[in-house]
Amino acid sequence: MSTTEGPDLASSFDRVAAEYDAARPSYPDALFDAVEELSGVALAGADVLDVGAGTGISSRALAARGARVTAVEPTPGMADRLRAVSPEIPLVRGDGNALPFRDSCADLVSYAQSFHWTDHGRSVPEAIRVLRPGGALALWWNVKDRGVRWVAEQSARLAAACPQYHGYRPFGESPQELSRFGVRVVTATLRWERRTPVETALLDQTSRSYVAVLDPQARERVLAAEREALLAEFPDGVIVEPYLLDLTVALPEGRP
Ligand SMILES: C[S@@+](CC[C@H](N)C(=O)[O-])C[C@H]1O[C@@H](n2cnc3c(N)ncnc32)[C@H](O)[C@@H]1O
Repeated sequence: MSTTEGPDLASSFDRVAAEYDAARPSYPDALFDAVEELSGVALAGADVLDVGAGTGISSRALAARGARVTAVEPTPGMADRLRAVSPEIPLVRGDGNALPFRDSCADLVSYAQSFHWTDHGRSVPEAIRVLRPGGALALWWNVKDRGVRWVAEQSARLAAACPQYHGYRPFGESPQELSRFGVRVVTATLRWERRTPVETALLDQTSRSYVAVLDPQARERVLAAEREALLAEFPDGVIVEPYLLDLTVALPEGRP
């Protein structure tokens, strides 16, 4: 793992699958345009392995673009939720560090908000192994823009209240470090906004791993403080969340 998060944090998703699916933002269409542009892979008809698929937010968005998506998810709670809400999407229980697929079977391997949970020394060679010639590995993260005052204040509150709070740090230094695996790395950052009711924004916080691992009283305190702060900032109860969507595409060298 490239962050300071531990295995307890990763498995905490299991307990909050319903909240996760109901409250986490999806991805704008512009992201998938950028994936196609940077990877050279047309999503319509492409075989995509969506790894760390969770409850299927990213898998559904890829399927909506015409991709033939197989969702890959290690934890039972998230996988059960995915099966319940998106039975049409094939699901394989598996780990990005040891993909349960044969060589050269996919046009795209995607990790939406999930690559940081893997051991890059294993997950990148695994992705390269299962990619067909001309295929690509696409990694992306939706991150609230801390350049906006209220987001920076929220991050500071959560860091103070949640011992396992972690900032966004998917790579040691930069995405270019993936080039050590013999891939060409290209990146893009997109800006977008989500307007969402305060209750959904709080449910989103409930689904964050560093909140999910708190004891119940501490969790209630954090959520009450967040409700108060968000309503002070957005008195009409509609939160305007500014997002930066960081996309990294790794292209195996030697591709035609
Ligand atoms: C933040 S969720 C992302 C879910 C989904 N891709 C989305 O866009 O909302 C991260 C997911 O990565 C999964 N995960 C954790 N460790 C993993 C690993 N080693 N390989 C694959 N997935 C992993 C977690 O179980 C969780 O479902």
